[in-house]
Amino acid sequence: MKLDVSRADLTVGVIGTGAMGRGIAQVTAAGGMRVLMTDARPGAAAEAKDFIGKMLDRAAEKGSISKDEATAATARITIVDSHKDMKPCHVVIEAIVENLDAKRALFTELEDIVTPECILVSNTSSMSVTTIGAKLKTPQRFAGFHFFNPVPLMKLVEVISGLLTEEWVCDALMALGRRMTREPVRLTDAPGFLVNQVGRGFSLEGSHLVYEGVSTFADVDRVMRDVGGFRMGPFELMELTGLDVTQPASSLIYNQFFQEPRYRPSLIMQSRFEAGVLGRKSKKGFYEYDKDMKAIFAPEAPAPAARPESVWVSPVEAVGSAKLIELLSKLGTSVETGAKPSAKALILVTPIGEDATTAATSQGLDPKRTIAVDTLFPMVKRRTIMPTPITDPAYRDAAHGLLASDGVPVTVCRDSPGFIAQRIIAMIVNIGCSIAQSRTASAADIDKAVTLGLNYPNGPFKFGDVLGVQNIHRILENMNKIYADPRYRPNIWLTRRAKLGVSLLTPEP
Ligand code: NAI
Repeated sequence: MKLDVSRADLTVGVIGTGAMGRGIAQVTAAGGMRVLMTDARPGAAAEAKDFIGKMLDRAAEKGSISKDEATAATARITIVDSHKDMKPCHVVIEAIVENLDAKRALFTELEDIVTPECILVSNTSSMSVTTIGAKLKTPQRFAGFHFFNPVPLMKLVEVISGLLTEEWVCDALMALGRRMTREPVRLTDAPGFLVNQVGRGFSLEGSHLVYEGVSTFADVDRVMRDVGGFRMGPFELMELTGLDVTQPASSLIYNQFFQEPRYRPSLIMQSRFEAGVLGRKSKKGFYEYDKDMKAIFAPEAPAPAARPESVWVSPVEAVGSAKLIELLSKLGTSVETGAKPSAKALILVTPIGEDATTAATSQGLDPKRTIAVDTLFPMVKRRTIMPTPITDPAYRDAAHGLLASDGVPVTVCRDSPGFIAQRIIAMIVNIGCSIAQSRTASAADIDKAVTLGLNYPNGPFKFGDVLGVQNIHRILENMNKIYADPRYRPNIWLTRRAKLGVSLLTPEP
């Protein structure tokens, strides 16, 4: 069977006209297709059509479409009484409540209403496509079509084949997505699909390291913005989405993966979720809010005035130490040239995936004078340093004062393998690699989906190229060794590419 999605009379049903359904209806109508739209709540579909009309009119005022196109698109939307009126549809998109029984009941009824050629899809964000479709008489024409909120602004749509979905269905959905002016990405069914799986690396690793006492919510957010290049840190993002969404999704993905440690949820998120401290929507989350609902960021403490008497940089990490020596010379500090630090020197180490304690003890350095500096990222907008648990505070302050002496802020975190940014980004890459390994999607599509769907500065594989595949692998290996926690074991797909010294984007024949 084939569906010609370019046909002029293509008719798409949208069931459920809440936040998602109305957005899907809007891009479908704007793409020149007829829409039949319904909602179980009386009046909801009419409200949605009114909303869509206003959105399209606003787009016309801004000049992104013409007034005539806006009027014609709105006119292509017809409100129908119920799903029983979906017979003329070539595709029916379900965007109702996220409840398995409700979705299954709807599709079971729809099967007897629509023609045998009609494609049935769910916009579910968290349920297995295979599971929803399993009870259907014709699961082969059922697939996932996962849009992102707000639909008209978020170009990505994940086209998900369940175990029994036939190829032609996803071919048609890819073409349909393009006709809706979306950027479709094709994948096979997996917990969290693609984007929501990768997103766990960001939110969960951020939460785990705060739980461990490594840093604060605000500092993690600052580091991920200024050092990692993200638009928002993990806690700022969770504030916007709400822990009522992020926490259940995290637990679900973890359990759907049979408690895979890589996706282990965080107690920080769970307790806040249970206490109703959800984020912006509860006016209190990781941050407090002022009366205009602006997050209150406590200002950073000024950098100490202290400076070290002399500085010695460990040569063990050749690249990192060269970067640090170059920076110190720009700051007007000359570095000791001896093979060992002098008696009173501040000792700087530049570990990849090691904590300051491991770096100091393994190199036979005095841990009371040792400070680790994260040199893996550009040290232009912010620098991250960490003492060992017994570093003399005078040495910590001297390192902080020196590295902030050109006005660039410095974040001091507690001892942690991988500081803050190294470990969060390594987890994102590791998850990306496990998605590629399971052939859920191609490496190129994973990067495309993550940059479009999550607005990250790079997808997991580009991060590998930018930071070095072997560096990412070392971060994970060291974390795995230091924590003795399988959560951090490097994925074998990543390990092989690190051993071979090739880009993570290298196509496999
Ligand atoms: P929503 O609560 O804004 O809208 C759901 C609509 O479906 C409501 O208008 C409700 O009256 C209607 N409805 C409920 N049961 C129905 C039934 N049996 N028949 C017809 N209409 C019914 O929810 P939202 O956020 O639009 O989510 C809809 C679906 O999209 C869910 O499966 C959700 O997981 C998924 N999704 C949500 C995203 C989001 O960011 N909100 C992102 C991607 C997917």
